[in-house]
Amino acid sequence: MSDFMLLTADGLQRVEKLLFSTLQGTKEEENVNAMCMHVVRAGGKRLRPRLTLLSAAALIQDLDDKCSDAVERLAAAVELLHTASLIHDDVIDKASLRRGTCTLNETDGNHAAVLAGDYMFTRCFVLLHTLNCMPLFDSMAQTVSALVTGELEQLKRQGDLSVSEQDYRRTVYCKTGALFELACSGPAIFFKCENEKIEALKKYGRLLGQGFQVADDLLDYQGRSDNTGKDVGEDLSDGRITLPLIIALRDLGGKARADLAEAAKSGDFNRVSKTLDEVGALQKTQEFALQSAKEATEALNILPKSPYRDALCEIALKAALRSA
Ligand code: FPP
Ligand code: MG
Repeated sequence: MSDFMLLTADGLQRVEKLLFSTLQGTKEEENVNAMCMHVVRAGGKRLRPRLTLLSAAALIQDLDDKCSDAVERLAAAVELLHTASLIHDDVIDKASLRRGTCTLNETDGNHAAVLAGDYMFTRCFVLLHTLNCMPLFDSMAQTVSALVTGELEQLKRQGDLSVSEQDYRRTVYCKTGALFELACSGPAIFFKCENEKIEALKKYGRLLGQGFQVADDLLDYQGRSDNTGKDVGEDLSDGRITLPLIIALRDLGGKARADLAEAAKSGDFNRVSKTLDEVGALQKTQEFALQSAKEATEALNILPKSPYRDALCEIALKAALRSA
């Protein structure tokens, strides 16, 4: 097991308990609870709550029980927001597979899935409320605005091959970076740390998120559904123009560019992914993800050296390689 998994194993067990207890509602809520539990049980690496636990420990190494409990509740709230956003995202993307299991939209239909996502979203705020920390509420609200804005930007640009790298980076920040930023800086906000530390953890989260999403977009071209837990090739078929394609369209000229654009428009996944590989766009995308991870770890230099800080560095690198 990696160091970051070991260091967060105990805390995460308590976070998991909180996830399930927070989703336990009244008898009338039984149906929606069962749907939410199904998604939460499918698991995943729980990267975001682990980041919250590690960021807290990297700031204060001997947390008392009261503070640990608050950090765990924050970690669970972050995971609930993330999972709710994925339920909605799978409806938008018409995805049938997530974390190796059927999505709610696949098993229960779009209407029920949207409502289950809404329910989980409200449970996240119920949990956050127990921390009685307005600045965290504010950060969480800003994160949700970014998530929604990112999804809308992506929808607006569906199939638009003129998307620039700058547009792409902005969307990546909104849909992924903002939530990592919250997961990592949330403890510093809660502990009322110096602004310098809050900003450093925000930067770390933002850049880690960028590396993570870019690597995710790369895997959509080169992964296999049995090791990603998701269908491959969905970005192209749904008209999401991501970094590998943006780089190839930028680097190619003349007929080669027109051929690639035509293959992309017609959704010819094999032809597009072969071209992206041949022109080095997949390689450059991987390098971009690794550079983001490197910059993320550099942002942590202002924190004292500790196994927790090392574990945060390990996560950034692994996320960019998608080996976490
Ligand atoms: C995954 O992107 C999607 C996101 C990270 C964010 C989705 C956000 C929303 C739908 C807004 C949610 C709003 C509320 C109120 C909860 P992707 O499709 O590129 O990644 P994937 O391959 O994992 O599906
Ligand atoms: Mg999706």
